Amino acid sequence: MNVTESACAKIILCGEHAVVYGRPAIALPLPDLRARATASPRPAAHDMHPDDVEIIAPDIGARYWARQQPGRPLATIVTNTLAFLGITPEDANWRPFNLTVQSDIPVSSNLGSGAAVSICAARATAAFFGRPLSATDASALAFEVERMHHGTPSGIDNTVIAHEQPVWFIRGNAPEILSGAAHLPLVIGDTGRSVSTRIPVGDVRAAWQRDPTPMEQRFDEIGAIAHAARAALLAGDLPGLGALMNANHAALQGLTVSADSLDALCEAARTAGALGAKMSGGGRGGAMLALARDAADAATIDAALRAAGAARVLRSQG
Ligand code: MEV
Repeated sequence: MNVTESACAKIILCGEHAVVYGRPAIALPLPDLRARATASPRPAAHDMHPDDVEIIAPDIGARYWARQQPGRPLATIVTNTLAFLGITPEDANWRPFNLTVQSDIPVSSNLGSGAAVSICAARATAAFFGRPLSATDASALAFEVERMHHGTPSGIDNTVIAHEQPVWFIRGNAPEILSGAAHLPLVIGDTGRSVSTRIPVGDVRAAWQRDPTPMEQRFDEIGAIAHAARAALLAGDLPGLGALMNANHAALQGLTVSADSLDALCEAARTAGALGAKMSGGGRGGAMLALARDAADAATIDAALRAAGAARVLRSQG
């Protein structure tokens, strides 16, 4: 029997980059944008690799055997998940399977595509053997892959995606689920410029190593914005939250992780009536988010982002 599992995209409401240095951040799931993985049993007769998992990723034109290409992210998450569950090809209940992964989440757009792909692949692998993963375990397995491929991640992406709830995240602590968070009419604009998170995160680290004091001050400023944003989010104070998003964007510009394309989309959103707008995630490209007052305003902002050159726009009740 085929088993299909999915995982959502994410957006950072506030606190990115500073979160790598121990300050708090808030991340929201984007449930309408998803990656899916299907584990399908492979007939054992004439199977050339009965002890291996065939990975099929049509989006990137990839088809390979996990144990033969161990450095690849999907191979890593599948083999790590099997090892975590203690499942080996020698087990009586081992069944050869193919894992097919497809994603609607644009790659390298700061929307959590890598973590979402890892999490749905881990879930499908585990579910195929009747061993569903907890959100905490799925998150931990995905974090190992994030670490291999993104340098020094904080863990916020895998956490919010695995829990699929708004999270208050401080590196090294258990995440706090913000179950009382207001539903936000968000408009997300993708610049269409893909950038690996590793690059801006590495640049921030280099600047911090060169001169830590001003960088620590900026991280403190972003941390204070996150605290205020948490209060606004829980109180349903959308205008207050919008102002904090604008302040967070300015602070990220100060870290040099924004880009002309992101600044232009944020400006277009504000001119079209957004309560606030900011880049999201690593930056230098990828996505931004704008907070609308209501659904009608979201439609106006959506049109303005498209007119300003956004490659994709999506709306969410994040
Ligand atoms: C990526 O979504 C957010 C960053 O803060 C990196 C991280 O936390 O790992 C830029």
